[in-house]
Amino acid sequence: MNLWIRQTHRWLSLAFTATVVANFVVRGFGEPPAWVTYAPLPPLFLLMFSGLTMFVLPYAAKWRGEARARVDA
Ligand code: HEM
Repeated sequence: MNLWIRQTHRWLSLAFTATVVANFVVRGFGEPPAWVTYAPLPPLFLLMFSGLTMFVLPYAAKWRGEARARVDA
């Protein structure tokens, strides 16, 4: 599960980077349509969730471990 989130985050980061680069390239030809301008936002939004999940995972494991340790004690 952890690996799945990490790999999703990794591939999303590439998709996000591609949309940002595409923005700069297309902007070279003038103001692009709105969907190009906002194309980086959906992958960035998903990156935020997968990233925050990865951030919290070690703490969540610690909380669970401590709770179980207290019950066992
Ligand atoms: C939007 C909010 C984001 C949050 C909260 C976030 C958070 C995180 C966290 C917690 C990790 C794991 C670090 C560790 O190893 O302990 C990570 C890894 C990573 N992040 Fe993000 N991230 C965000 C956005 C991005 C963006 C915008 C990019 C690049 C375009 C990016 C690229 C990566 C990459 C390449 C890794 C390493 C994944 C791997 O191969 O293991 N992240 N991020």
